Amino acid sequence: MNGMSAGVSSVEPLWVGTSWKMNKTLGQSREWTTALSENLSSNILDGVQPFVVPSFTAISAVVQLLGERSPVLVGAQNAHWEDSGAWTGEVSVLQVKDAGARIVEIGHSERREHFHETTAITCLKVAATIRHGLTPLLCIGEPADIREAGESSAYILGQARGALDGLNEEQLKDVVIAYEPMWAIGDNGRSPTTEELVGPFDALGAEYSGRVKALLYGGSVNLNNAEHLLKVDHVGGLFVGRTAWDIDGYLQLLDIAAAHMRSRAQGA
Ligand code: 13P
Repeated sequence: MNGMSAGVSSVEPLWVGTSWKMNKTLGQSREWTTALSENLSSNILDGVQPFVVPSFTAISAVVQLLGERSPVLVGAQNAHWEDSGAWTGEVSVLQVKDAGARIVEIGHSERREHFHETTAITCLKVAATIRHGLTPLLCIGEPADIREAGESSAYILGQARGALDGLNEEQLKDVVIAYEPMWAIGDNGRSPTTEELVGPFDALGAEYSGRVKALLYGGSVNLNNAEHLLKVDHVGGLFVGRTAWDIDGYLQLLDIAAAHMRSRAQGA
């Protein structure tokens, strides 16, 4: 296996979505969402599952603008594992579900780094998300020193196993995992080479391929590297920050993913 051929079953859609992180006012959120709705064609949706993860304040507005029949899934960037209680400043899975979210992002490296989100906490959040019938979008990824030590795969498998501990096979089928190496994310990140992704995705694929909904890649995805990244074995979609905050960038990424699915279907 060269690690670079089409990796997931052709019937599974490619998940292509964006987290806005701590960006966009309500007005900006509405503007982006309206432009998305106006430009989503069946061509773009061919084999692609779009999703958007706004700030808490915009979830409800985005859900309402998209409408009930929209193919676009909406998520929350975080949620507490308890349904309610004295947890000032927190928002529960129950509450984000009530606002219309269908996905809960869990364990992004920015939350692990700045808000002390541990593997034990990610496990509680995954369980709460599953309990409410939503899709956990579990983010895993190693820091640069772990990569340099050649320990990326062991590190991310540890994060995934810890977070998914206790789920049965039926529950695992609802989980999406995004591999987002910390050295690749954000303004100080760098695009990985496709070769750098082969080891981690082979490790994730060996353990989770066919058992979870999808394995995504995230970190410095852009219009130049998206197609190459989608060709890495086991990559079943892209989780995007900066490139997709501008609606044109997101629409172009959806186009690239749809074209990739069409060429895969044709056996190219
Ligand atoms: P960038 O695409 O801006 O590097 O961010 C990726 C990310 O963190 C998605 O969760």
